[in-house]
Amino acid sequence: MSPQRLRDDLVKQTKIDVLTADQAKDNEAHMHTVSRSFLTDTITVPTPEMMSYAALSSLGDAVYHEAATDALEKHMARLTGKEAALFLPSGTMSNQIAIRTHLTQPPHSIVCDARTHIHKYEAGGAAFHSQAAVIPIHPANGHHITLEEIIHNADLTSDIHFALTKLIVLENTLNGTIFPQDEILRIAKFAKENDLKLHLDGARIWHVAAELAIPLEELVSPFDSVSICFSKGLGAPIGTCLMGPAAFINKARWLRKLFGGGMRQTGFLSASAAYAVSNNFEKLFHVHELTRRIEKGLIELGAEILSPAETCMVFYDPAPLGLEYAEILERAAKLPDPITLGGSRLVCHIQTSDQAVADFLALISQLKEEKKAEGWVPPEKTHVNGNGVIRDVYVRPKAIH
Ligand SMILES: Cc1ncc(COP(=O)(O)O)c(C=O)c1O
Repeated sequence: MSPQRLRDDLVKQTKIDVLTADQAKDNEAHMHTVSRSFLTDTITVPTPEMMSYAALSSLGDAVYHEAATDALEKHMARLTGKEAALFLPSGTMSNQIAIRTHLTQPPHSIVCDARTHIHKYEAGGAAFHSQAAVIPIHPANGHHITLEEIIHNADLTSDIHFALTKLIVLENTLNGTIFPQDEILRIAKFAKENDLKLHLDGARIWHVAAELAIPLEELVSPFDSVSICFSKGLGAPIGTCLMGPAAFINKARWLRKLFGGGMRQTGFLSASAAYAVSNNFEKLFHVHELTRRIEKGLIELGAEILSPAETCMVFYDPAPLGLEYAEILERAAKLPDPITLGGSRLVCHIQTSDQAVADFLALISQLKEEKKAEGWVPPEKTHVNGNGVIRDVYVRPKAIH
C-alpha cells in the first residue's frame, strides 16, 4: 500500500462523530427528563443561552493564566471576601486540595459531621491524599454538629496515642439544611483559639445566601477556606472555586497541578460558570418554593418528613402511608410522563418543572388511596426517628449524591 493510501486510511480511522442522528431532538427529550427528575441537582443541563455566551469566551491556557478564568476567580474572591480564588474541575478536587493544603505533617486528624461529602463521598480522599484520620460526628440533634460535640470528639491533647486534630470541616448546606450561623461563629472562635483550621464545603452555599438573604462574604467570613460549586444549584456544566488567603491559594494552585487538575483552555467553562452565577442564582428562590411545596404536600398526605425542606432538598418516609420507596419509584417510572426518583431524598433544581412537583404529589395521593382500598390501616403513631440521624435511603442509584 502506498504511503499516501496508508495516511488516508489512518485519517479515516481516526474520525468520530459523537452526535446522534437527531441530537437536537434527543437533547430536548433529555431536558424534559431532567425537568421531571428529583435525583439530584447536578443533572441540570447547559442551556443554549449559556452555551452561546460561553462560545464567545477568551481562549487562553489556564495553566499560564486565562483571561475569563482569572476574571471569574477575582469575582469569586471579591464575592466571598477572601484574598484569592482558584478554579477547579470539581468540588471533590477542591475539597481535597483544601485539606491537603491545610494539613502538612501527619499524624493529624479532621473533625467533621459523619454525613459530610468529604467523609462519605470522596473515596476516602483525606486518607489517600493527606494521610489524615477522619473523626466523624453523628450530630445528636440530627441537623448539625455543635461546638460541644466538636470539643468532645477532637483530639487536642499531646498524648502520643492520638492523631492531633488540625482541621474542622463543615458543610453548608448539608442534605439541603442550613447550618446555623451563630453555631458556626462559636466553632470558628474555638478553632482560632486552638490553632485549628476551618474549611467550608460550601458546594451549595448559594442556597443559604438566597434563603437567608445574607451575603456570601458574611456567611463564609468565619472560615479559613471555602469551596463553592457552579455545577450544582446554579446549573453550570462543570467547575468549583476554592477561596482563601493568597498564600493558601498559591499552594493550592501548585497542588492542583500535582493532582492533574491543571486545565488548559478553560475560558468557555469559566464563562459558563459566570453565566450561571449571573443568571441562575436568582432562580433559587423558586427552587426553594418548590421544595417547600413538596414538603407541605407530603405532610398533608401523612408521610413522615425525615429532613426538612430548608433549601432544595427534602427527605421523606412514605411508611405511614403503607408505601415503600421501591413501589413509588416503579410507579413514577411507569407514568405516561415518567418521573425519576431516588429514594428518601427529593431534590429540586433550577430546571425542575412545577408540573413534575404536582404530578409527584398526585402520584403519592393516588398510591395512598390504593393502599386504603386494599385495607391498609395507618399505624396509630408514626415512626419516631431513632437516634436523631436521618435515614438516608437511596433505592437507586446509590452513587448519585
Ligand atoms: C456537598 C458536596 N460537596 C462536594 C461535592 C463534590 O462535587 P463534585 O461532584 O463536583 O466532585 C458534592 C457533590 O455532589 C456535594 O454534594
